[in-house]
Amino acid sequence: MINLKLTAVRSPALWLATVSFLAAVLAVGPVAAQPMPLAERIKQCAACHGDDGNSKIEKIPSLAGQPEFFILNQLFLMREGVRRIEAMESFVKDLKDEDLQGLSAHFAKLPPKPTEEKVDPDLVKRGAVISDQKRCGSCHLPNLAGQEQMPRLARQRIDYLIESMKSYRDNTRSGADTAMSAALGAASDADIAALAHYASTK
Ligand code: HEC
Ligand code: HEC
Repeated sequence: MINLKLTAVRSPALWLATVSFLAAVLAVGPVAAQPMPLAERIKQCAACHGDDGNSKIEKIPSLAGQPEFFILNQLFLMREGVRRIEAMESFVKDLKDEDLQGLSAHFAKLPPKPTEEKVDPDLVKRGAVISDQKRCGSCHLPNLAGQEQMPRLARQRIDYLIESMKSYRDNTRSGADTAMSAALGAASDADIAALAHYASTK
């Protein structure tokens, strides 16, 4: 707040200086209105999602190699408050359309790396069978790299895949596409773990 005491401004020169200072402030507007460069935004995202888009943090998804449209669509849903992720709220609320596009293009181009989590080969085998039965590849593509609004599952973190599948099954993911809940049906926790180990290492 600028608390101007007009009576205290006695000298005409000071008065002029004050008026032109105020005019300049009003013309520029608040400092927060300065757009943040895309590179700065990317750094904010990288703190959680990994410098190269491959997450090293438990239950935080990798973004590297996700279909560009999937990222764009999810960021749009988040900005509009449809998909609610508390940890991300302050980072998405003032994104402009150009930011959504720039961020999606950036992360989609990064190469996805295999997860560093422990993989259980028996679960991978079981997951392959369940994935065939449930036809996961019909939407996520046979190599599970994802397409359009359907995310990449291959090389995604196992713990995140488990969390997200449970949230579809239990209808706790805000703004979720109903196609996914239908595809999973009443999958058990054991089936979901198997699917996650298989999909991540595909
Ligand atoms: C404080 C940590 C944090 C920051 C910073 C952050 N995110 Fe996230 N992000 C998360 C978490 C946690 C999730 C997953 C939450 C869930 O599904 O419950 C997520 C999910 C996502 C998803 C959905 C991915 C998927 O596979 O469903 C996208 C896209 C995303 N973030 C993009 C971004 C972008 C772009 C930025 C920078 C503008 C960003 N995030 C900043 C923590 C963060
Ligand atoms: C009918 C098409 C369809 C089928 C079949 C399907 N999915 Fe999906 N899946 C989607 C869509 C669409 C989304 C994105 C949903 C959203 O926006 O919430 C999604 C999202 C996901 C996600 C969330 C990943 C992330 O990064 O947030 C996982 C995990 C997933 N699917 C796994 C599977 C598995 C495993 C199967 C097989 C059991 C499967 N899907 C079958 C359409 C499908």
